[in-house]
Amino acid sequence: MIRYFDNAASSWPKPPSVAEIMKSMMVECTANPGRGGHKMAVQASRVMFDTRKKLAKLFSIKNPNDIAFTQNTTMALNMAISGILRESDHVICTSIEHNSVHRPLEHLILQRKIEVSYLPAQQDGTIQLKQYEQTFRNNTKLVIINHSSNLLGSIMPVAEMAKIAKLKGAFVLIDAAQTAGMIPIDVNQINADMLAFPGHKGLLGPQGTGGLYIHPNLELEPLITGGTGSKSEDKYQPNVRPDRYEAGTQNTVGIAGLGEGVKFVLNETVERIQAKKNKQMIRLMEQLSTIEGLRILGPEIGIPRTGLVSFLLKNIDSSELAFILDQTFNIAVRAGYHCTPLAHQVAGTMEGGAVRASIGYFTTDEEVDALADALKDIAKHYT
Ligand code: ALA
Repeated sequence: MIRYFDNAASSWPKPPSVAEIMKSMMVECTANPGRGGHKMAVQASRVMFDTRKKLAKLFSIKNPNDIAFTQNTTMALNMAISGILRESDHVICTSIEHNSVHRPLEHLILQRKIEVSYLPAQQDGTIQLKQYEQTFRNNTKLVIINHSSNLLGSIMPVAEMAKIAKLKGAFVLIDAAQTAGMIPIDVNQINADMLAFPGHKGLLGPQGTGGLYIHPNLELEPLITGGTGSKSEDKYQPNVRPDRYEAGTQNTVGIAGLGEGVKFVLNETVERIQAKKNKQMIRLMEQLSTIEGLRILGPEIGIPRTGLVSFLLKNIDSSELAFILDQTFNIAVRAGYHCTPLAHQVAGTMEGGAVRASIGYFTTDEEVDALADALKDIAKHYT
């Protein structure tokens, strides 16, 4: 039996109801939502809205139509970044961003001559709020906050950072790739103008799903334009939400699955999920910290972190270590650069990357102990 520690990339397993509804949608309802008036099309629209409503409840969003579905967090971040930034705008983000923020920004530096300040983060993932405050300029349009680093597991003080951004007149975009469904998020409380989230990680839905919350007072240039099923006689993209941001046929089957994932999270409550993971992370990190030659990246034990830990063992190449864990112990982890060279520079792991183990809702204590035992075993035999 595989022991799965790659939940930060995509969670597994999913609640059974996710696959069940996806199968029943495939068999009974593959009509196009919002495109027809017949019963099956109406049913498809209803399923989409139902998932939107659940997501709105999860993130305390008043109007579910302020959520646009996307294929993944990357698309949501691109929609936000490209939709808001214009020539010569200034952006603040951190020096530990994922490529899904880093690359769109670097692209717009070339395409639209935007300016970007990468606020230095420390090896434990922390930033200095004073320094952050001093980074604002007259033309600062947007602050992007990586809620949690996918390499370090550190958690950013989103509410404090967003409060400062609002005082300075900047918009706030939260990258919740590693926190949605894992840390309570209330978009009003944290002053988020936009929240980008994946469907296939902490929300326990299928791949190919994600979304972007857009504050009702904020208008973005759509990332793509095209058919929406509404105002078809108009040559311009309609203003009505969510259609404005959802051109083309949607992933209705996937979104139905996402709805079941979110339902599961709502029933369990994010608070309980977070508490369970915190306990397991402490159990794992306490064991890892006893292994000679194992270096843990990110915050120390006891400092809040999400359900992942990256590490290096002796001088074993990270890909080799992941290979041994997979082949000999049937343990799945991720190795290498994790699409975040910026964070690797901060962590000092640009040479070969690091191994990352990430737990999920269904991870058991027995699995955590098996991972720790496997690493102890490898450490003992590797000199
Ligand atoms: N961003 C995802 C990860 O950290 C894919 O693995």
